Amino acid sequence: MTDHKSEAEQRERIQTEVHPSADLVCRILAKQIADLIHTRNAKGNFCVLGLATGSTPVRLYRELIRLHREEGLSFARVITFNLDEYCGLSREHPESYWRFMHEQLFNHIDLPAAQINMPDGLVPRGEAFDSCRIYEEKILAAGGIDLQVLGIGRTGHIGFNEPGSTRDSRTRVVTLDGLTRRDAARDFLGEANVPRHAITMGIGTIMAAREIVLLAWGEAKAGVIAPAVEDVPRESLPASLLQAHPQVRFLIDEAAAAELTRVKTPWLVRSVDWTPALVRRAVTWLSLELKRPLLKLVDEHYAEHGMADLLVEQGPAYDLNIRIFNETQHTITGWPGGKPDADDTHRPERAQPPQKRVIVFAPEPSDEMLGMGGTLARLVAQGHAVTIAYLSSGNLAVPDEEAISAADLILGFVGELDAATRARARRVRERLCAKRANLALADDAETRQLKALLRRGEAQAALQVLGVPAASARFLDLPFYERGRYRQFEAGEKDLSVLLALLREIKPHQVFVTGAAQDPSSVAAVCFSVLATALAEVQKEPWWRDCRVWLYRLPGKTWSPYESDMAVPMSPDQLHQKAQAIYQHKTQRSQMPGPSQASQEVWSLAESSNRELARQYDALGLAEYEAIEAFARWVERERPRT
Ligand code: PGA
Repeated sequence: MTDHKSEAEQRERIQTEVHPSADLVCRILAKQIADLIHTRNAKGNFCVLGLATGSTPVRLYRELIRLHREEGLSFARVITFNLDEYCGLSREHPESYWRFMHEQLFNHIDLPAAQINMPDGLVPRGEAFDSCRIYEEKILAAGGIDLQVLGIGRTGHIGFNEPGSTRDSRTRVVTLDGLTRRDAARDFLGEANVPRHAITMGIGTIMAAREIVLLAWGEAKAGVIAPAVEDVPRESLPASLLQAHPQVRFLIDEAAAAELTRVKTPWLVRSVDWTPALVRRAVTWLSLELKRPLLKLVDEHYAEHGMADLLVEQGPAYDLNIRIFNETQHTITGWPGGKPDADDTHRPERAQPPQKRVIVFAPEPSDEMLGMGGTLARLVAQGHAVTIAYLSSGNLAVPDEEAISAADLILGFVGELDAATRARARRVRERLCAKRANLALADDAETRQLKALLRRGEAQAALQVLGVPAASARFLDLPFYERGRYRQFEAGEKDLSVLLALLREIKPHQVFVTGAAQDPSSVAAVCFSVLATALAEVQKEPWWRDCRVWLYRLPGKTWSPYESDMAVPMSPDQLHQKAQAIYQHKTQRSQMPGPSQASQEVWSLAESSNRELARQYDALGLAEYEAIEAFARWVERERPRT
């Protein structure tokens, strides 16, 4: 085998550092920025920083603020240029990048306002060209950008340079890609509210920076990071054009690195330690890659795909094939809570006790349906005591129009005499209408309560479609969410104690959770980290020894057959029922996250995701099902079994 570093490097055309967490990356980068500021200032120069918006840099800005407050880092001689701004949003608009930058960074440091530069999204169309030219001139006048921080969109955009942007493009007005607008739908409470245009620095502007650092977190970015780093640079993938820069680094977390060759198929670029998990991954990958069922793989297939040493160690192919076939076969079960009275030696779940206590945690109402609606229905039908714990109320994701019509409904329904209720509904209605004129207004507690009730109703309707009793639902309304706003959530002791109380009350045999690999600022990831802390804390308690933790994932990011420890098949009817249940989440229809095809609605995305997984099992030569939901067992936190 050739030296692993050089092979990985050959494939990776950009220096890419993978770190265990976004927080760690941000601490490292903030320190580097502080050093850069000191060095530039010590030489009598200003330090010129190119800054980005979005979820990605939030933690970096928090760390810079901390360095300013606690370690005396001064921004007095720093000049900043932001990458981009939406067209048509006032500075006060909750989603304007001007407001974002001030709330997330500028208001908390000693950077003089005159040294802040942001593209002006409100400039009249006729003046946009000049305004962009002046922006470029300002960058030049400042001496150019010393360090440019970038995020990356799922289209591969940097700044708002969408696919098709040319390598020499400069600051200009651009049209946003459909996928970018869809990804922003959540923030704007509906895709229709997302601006169509933006002003962005060009690729040429970005490439002129002396140093560039691109940050990416979470599984949603994995699919775009790998080609940007490994493929031939092309304008259809703007981030790949960074390969031509002499001083560029990608700093990413493990979830965003998942599709890099060195992570996904490491045997192709280095010699590996053939652990059972890696063998399963490699053999399954080979079968799917060659489109040949597991049992039809032969020695040559292994040898030609970097697995000659595996053949020597654990072969021949015939033995490996059968082993992995059986292992995969054993993950498939129609009994996600275990099959009572059956031999469970090779089953993903144990037979005892026949009726289990189960908690399904949903970061937001609808996550449980999207990720495991079919399995949830089975668990209930098979007699387990299932609690669905909704961690956040999800009220921030309810469009104002929905709440206004709910307020109207209340006003129409209650009699004139019920003055108190009328007054409340009116207050909410008036406040929401006032928001139209004053976008800086946030929802007050009463409004959020009404919005939360809408989502509760939808969650209950969805459970009803699956035949889950209403009493199974617990709405925990974790305080971190009720206090917070998108990207600014910070969980604390109160959240933890709510979860600990529930776990200790139910003492579950099974826990289903999601969010492990999502962007750390997302609701799901914040929920996951509180849950992980809670689960770590109960490890000494006797019931925990008998509890298994299963991870589910959302459509579009389901576990692969080689990652899944439990695969629950669904019949066509069950799949249809699941889609019907998801459909009950009416307030979410315009803003559900993540479909890869812009027009695909989320309930059909869940369907097609589950169908695709079944297709893969079929392709491996296993039984052909209509659809499958997959789960991975969370082992890190488990106590060794006795
Ligand atoms: P995000 O956006 O940080 O919110 O994921 C990144 C980008 O679109 O550049």
